[in-house]
Amino acid sequence: MKRVVLIEGDGIGHEVVPAAVRVLEATGVPFQFVEAEAGWDCFQRHGTALPDDTLALVRESDAALFGAVSSPLHRVEGYRSPIVALRRALDLYANLRPVFSMPVSGSRAGIDLLIVRENSEGLYSGRERREGDTVIAERVITRRASARITRVACEQAMHRRRHLTIVHKANVLRESDGLFREAAYQVAGEYADLTVAEMLVDTAALHLVTDPERFDVLVTTNLFGDILSDEAAGLVGGLGLAPSANVGDVQGVFEPVHGSAPDIAGRGIANPIATILAASLMLEHLREAAAAERVRVAAIETLRQGPRTPDLGGDAGTEDVTRAIVAKL
Ligand code: NAI
Ligand code: MG
Repeated sequence: MKRVVLIEGDGIGHEVVPAAVRVLEATGVPFQFVEAEAGWDCFQRHGTALPDDTLALVRESDAALFGAVSSPLHRVEGYRSPIVALRRALDLYANLRPVFSMPVSGSRAGIDLLIVRENSEGLYSGRERREGDTVIAERVITRRASARITRVACEQAMHRRRHLTIVHKANVLRESDGLFREAAYQVAGEYADLTVAEMLVDTAALHLVTDPERFDVLVTTNLFGDILSDEAAGLVGGLGLAPSANVGDVQGVFEPVHGSAPDIAGRGIANPIATILAASLMLEHLREAAAAERVRVAAIETLRQGPRTPDLGGDAGTEDVTRAIVAKL
């Protein structure tokens, strides 16, 4: 029995996580689901966006499925993004974003790539300081984190087309990205059957748009990975379809790339497919590869045949799409 923590969060998190749970239940894999709170509503009620209970539950479980949370754009005393805090507390150092062509009109054909983003340091080190009207943000790059993220990327690549692109900006960030590049090449060099290339991040942004078919696995630092993976999601049908995995050496937290979508929350029209594909990544992590594949195929077949939610030009609701996917399983 796998124990999975469900963190709906805010907004459409309350709609897409229950949808994914119904799909998980339809796989026949035995799960014990436990619900836990996090996010902005939680912060307003309890004064913390990530209660200790929630963190403890995730620690004791096999995995967590995370919906989305709302975050204030300005500084709010005591508020910290719960997903960033979870990544840090559980050392979920790898963010995996698979991007593949989808059978919808907004998707380009021929794309099957994976962005492996370093999730624990870089410009998201949390070290910012203010000196009058100047703010200094520290971009932390370590050999250890650069090496372990590259190892994840190489392992993934060995199960795919065995091609790795190391993405950096070492021509300008000579010290920090110089170290990332050096550590990445060192680890990648241990894989005899792997083809390794490197690319500056701005060039990678360009090639993602002009010829994304060339990429298999990309490995990069935190901020570059954040930006490139949203860009890549835009090539294959947008946020309603993009899943992501945050994994460490033990735990994993799986989530859609999108946020809480306050503009459509509560209307029953959120696209559940990003979260359902995140649930498929979770199944893979839980060594339920066959069930993971069945969920992915059922979701993609449903995209092909409909029903579709309004973000994909359809007029169906979350419930209709979920029911169609469950029926296929
Ligand atoms: P968003 O991803 O919530 O929404 C952007 C646009 O995409 C909106 O028009 C929304 O309706 C649409 N959209 C997103 N997911 C959809 C889905 N499943 N089905 C149909 N349409 C969908 O990003 P936004 O508006 O910039 O942020 C809203 C809130 O979410 C903010 O408070 C932000 O901080 C938070 N956020 C949270 C994230 C997370 O929990 N990991 C990630 C990104 C944003
Ligand atoms: Mg992002």
